[in-house]
Amino acid sequence: MSPRFGAVEENIDCAIATIGNKTSDLWVLPELFATGYQFKSREEVRSFAEAIPDGPTTTRLIGAARSLDAFICAGLPELDRGNVYNAAVLVGPDGLVARYRKIHLFFHEKEMFSPGDLPFSVADIGLAKVGMMICFDHFFPEAARTLTLAGAQVIAHPANLVMPLYAQLTMRTRALENGVFTATANRVGEEARTGAALHFTGESQIVSPSGEILVSLSPTEEKAEAVEIDPRDALNKALNPLNDRLGDRRPEFYQALC
Ligand code: ACM
Repeated sequence: MSPRFGAVEENIDCAIATIGNKTSDLWVLPELFATGYQFKSREEVRSFAEAIPDGPTTTRLIGAARSLDAFICAGLPELDRGNVYNAAVLVGPDGLVARYRKIHLFFHEKEMFSPGDLPFSVADIGLAKVGMMICFDHFFPEAARTLTLAGAQVIAHPANLVMPLYAQLTMRTRALENGVFTATANRVGEEARTGAALHFTGESQIVSPSGEILVSLSPTEEKAEAVEIDPRDALNKALNPLNDRLGDRRPEFYQALC
């Protein structure tokens, strides 16, 4: 989608209308899907930030999840105890399932948000185990690997990417090296509220555990698309009878990572 900055209600309506009568068990919407991205100040982003799960955006997402009989992952600014986080929620027909606060903040986000302070987590939605990461987290292989080690079969990845192709490439690798499905929902359009205009790169994609691109959307159009997967494909980490993506790890040699 291409949210209109600040038009929260309208952008939520647009997300629901874009899904329309398509069906899926899990929908992934972009990062900051209802507010837009290019905030002018910390005060401005704070004025849009909401409590989770009681704020209006999460409440409406839960309503939509109920009507669609689906789970929805979406990005929004969260206000909690005076801090504002670039967050994502996973909601279902029964309410909030999980929240994530972006751990790796990108560029001016560092001036707008507090860095995420919760561990990467994986939620069992019955059909699959789902982990969340947000946009620039794709640059850090540790994010997807941590979610994989926690049991994720599907990584939901709301995004507002501005660097052409980077995440479309890295997320293929994240899917392949971890043997998981990834679903990147990346917004389209432009925002020019401060200084340089931002051009969002779209090309939302769903990737299989073997790195195959199952869905690739346009760089400019708003669209929702789903693909049928078998999440059990993400349980088998073997590459051949003698190599296993997780079993062959040698953490004793990775100490520099911690
Ligand atoms: C980004 O993390 N929104 C590039």
